[in-house]
Amino acid sequence: MHCTTGFNYPQVKTPTQIFKTALRNALYFNIAFAKKICYNEIQIRADIINNRKSNLREKIYYMESNQIIKKNKNYWNENADLWFGTTALPEYGVKFPTEDDLHLFGDVSGKKLLEICCGSGHSLKYHADRNAGELWGIDLSEKQLENAKKLLSENGCFARLICSPMESSLEEIPKEYFDYVYSIYGIGWTTDLQGTFDKISSFLKKDGIFIFSWHHTLNYCAAWSCGERKVMIENDQLVFHKSYFDEDYFTMPVDGSEIVLCNRKISTYVNALANAGFVIEQMIEQNDKQTMGSADINDADRKAKMLPISMCFKARKL
Ligand SMILES: C[S@@+](CC[C@H](N)C(=O)[O-])C[C@H]1O[C@@H](n2cnc3c(N)ncnc32)[C@H](O)[C@@H]1O
Repeated sequence: MHCTTGFNYPQVKTPTQIFKTALRNALYFNIAFAKKICYNEIQIRADIINNRKSNLREKIYYMESNQIIKKNKNYWNENADLWFGTTALPEYGVKFPTEDDLHLFGDVSGKKLLEICCGSGHSLKYHADRNAGELWGIDLSEKQLENAKKLLSENGCFARLICSPMESSLEEIPKEYFDYVYSIYGIGWTTDLQGTFDKISSFLKKDGIFIFSWHHTLNYCAAWSCGERKVMIENDQLVFHKSYFDEDYFTMPVDGSEIVLCNRKISTYVNALANAGFVIEQMIEQNDKQTMGSADINDADRKAKMLPISMCFKARKL
């Protein structure tokens, strides 16, 4: 048929053409269908393998985490008396300005405070002496809590003390309840930083304050031997013995026993705080005046003149 108008008439197909088209379509759809099934199957199998892998990874992490907590708990139960009141307010940490210099807490009278890793209870007593309204403390060591209970009752103070690793669900602690959560040289013991910060955030009221101090990250990287647990200055120089990026767990001998820790980057703390809904109000990385003014008598002071040994964060829950 001849077309004169520009209009395309439908093509007339012979039975053979119709058969060929049908066959081609059938083949095409079958292949596409088969491909789809195969793809889905492969996808499901990959998901199962990945799930198995991540379950396994979680399981290994969980086992490792439990072993680390157990080992550290043993250390603290055996050596609690050696640390009675050593890292407690107004001290924030080694060679660090004190609360008397920094005033991070301000007036705590009538406020509700929770201490993570409350140890021998000296920081709780510090707040009780400043008329805190309600005090709670958690720590994984029975022996530390025994000491804390004794110290507090001998001084006519009271705190609710919970014996638990900070990594646990801590269901007994009320949510959106506290004005302050704080930890003096305790947070770095956690095997789950993000989980711990998330929980702390959930315990705080809106605008509640979270304050914690810990070793400065550089302290374990430079001029430090984890194996010997001592400052090492070589030819008057601070040598890096450990990579700043290395966040793996390591063991360190202490008092004839052993502890397990890791050295987290500053950004790890900053990002975990942000993810948990905090805004950082202050980060302090300085050494105390006494250390900075010392006449360089020992290696620890010489090191402290060149880098921060401890650090402290003050963050507010948004
Ligand atoms: C350096 S002390 C802190 C002392 C405390 N600031 C005071 O006033 O006594 C560290 C504390 O963290 C506790 N700790 C270590 N790992 C912990 C964990 N995973 N969960 C809870 N507490 C932990 C130890 O039992 C120890 O009492």
